Amino acid sequence: MSNTQVKLKSKPEGNPNTDNFEVIAANTPVPADGEILCKTLYLSLDPYMRGQISGRHISGTINPGDLMRGECVGEVIDPNGADFKIGDKITFHGGWQKYFTAPASDVKPVDSRLEPASLALGIMGMPGLTAYAGVFYLGELKETDTVLVSAASGAVGSMVGQMALNLGCRVIGIAGSDEKCGWLHDTAGFHGTINYKTEELADAIRRECPNGVDYYFDNVGGDMLDTVMQQLAIGARVVLCGLMAQYNTDVIPPGPNPATIIKARATVRGLVVYDFFDKIQEFLDYAIPLLDSDKIKYTEDVSDGLDQAPEAFARLMNGKNFGKTIIKVS
Ligand SMILES: NC(=O)c1ccc[n+]([C@@H]2O[C@H](COP(=O)([O-])OP(=O)(O)OC[C@H]3O[C@@H](n4cnc5c(N)ncnc54)[C@H](OP(=O)(O)O)[C@@H]3O)[C@@H](O)[C@H]2O)c1
Repeated sequence: MSNTQVKLKSKPEGNPNTDNFEVIAANTPVPADGEILCKTLYLSLDPYMRGQISGRHISGTINPGDLMRGECVGEVIDPNGADFKIGDKITFHGGWQKYFTAPASDVKPVDSRLEPASLALGIMGMPGLTAYAGVFYLGELKETDTVLVSAASGAVGSMVGQMALNLGCRVIGIAGSDEKCGWLHDTAGFHGTINYKTEELADAIRRECPNGVDYYFDNVGGDMLDTVMQQLAIGARVVLCGLMAQYNTDVIPPGPNPATIIKARATVRGLVVYDFFDKIQEFLDYAIPLLDSDKIKYTEDVSDGLDQAPEAFARLMNGKNFGKTIIKVS
């Protein structure tokens, strides 16, 4: 049996094209002890692969000459003594090739309820799990939330939206064509859709989310993230998941790069002290004993007389103050 493999030939600049890849005939791998041989039934193509090619993905780098990586649904054709039957379906990161070997202990059987088995690579696989995590572990979704999701017709986005619908939320999807928007509304049951290629995004968000966005699941980053962030409701939650707007470019847009937040699994929260005024006594009971026992240090930048206030303010705003700026008035 001849194997077919797809390797990276060159690193793309901008959008990848077919010239960046080469399809070659190779020998079919022979399973070593403890390995099984599988025929690839389905190969998942995912945006993260572009990050691997750029060397910017947490899962590692693909260089020219390397076999492209990717998750597959494979059919076992040689169990090689392992506890599998010929024809069993499994998932494994077998790469872009027709046949692959895999350690028997590392493959995962495809859940027999999944039909077609390709679902194990999409809405019922890694992308679906991504959506589930965003909704149930990071989202703190409430029935009253207005949920906005970008790249909404994809595996991740469509699952975010539909799980939010199941929770009773109002769900709006952003997508890049009327066909996608039609599917989101008519088939998936989203309450509203925005075609960001034909509509002015900010206006459309105002129309679909008149009370602001309570939960935004971001698959895109860039200008779209920036625009949505300006219409967050008080108490909004934003899950940064993907960066479609910047995978194909080496020029990272100015401002905080969502990639840093995603990689660190960081939580970014807005703070307005007004919301905590009822905690003042709790704070003082905590902090005054620390001050009294010299465990808290402080400096004050004290100016004498109200007439010094303009100058002190100018110093403060120029970073020339050191410590809390105070005017000793009388
Ligand atoms: N953080 C994680 O662990 C994790 C895991 C899985 C996936 N993800 C991310 O989740 C996102 C969605 O993944 P998916 O597999 O479900 O993909 P997908 O939504 O099927 O495909 C990507 C979609 O992104 C949209 N898009 C928006 N701006 C784009 C741009 N500038 N260039 C190209 N496409 C653009 C396109 O749809 P429109 O036409 O609607 O714009 C495109 O169809 C990706 O960003 C992916 O990297 C993250």
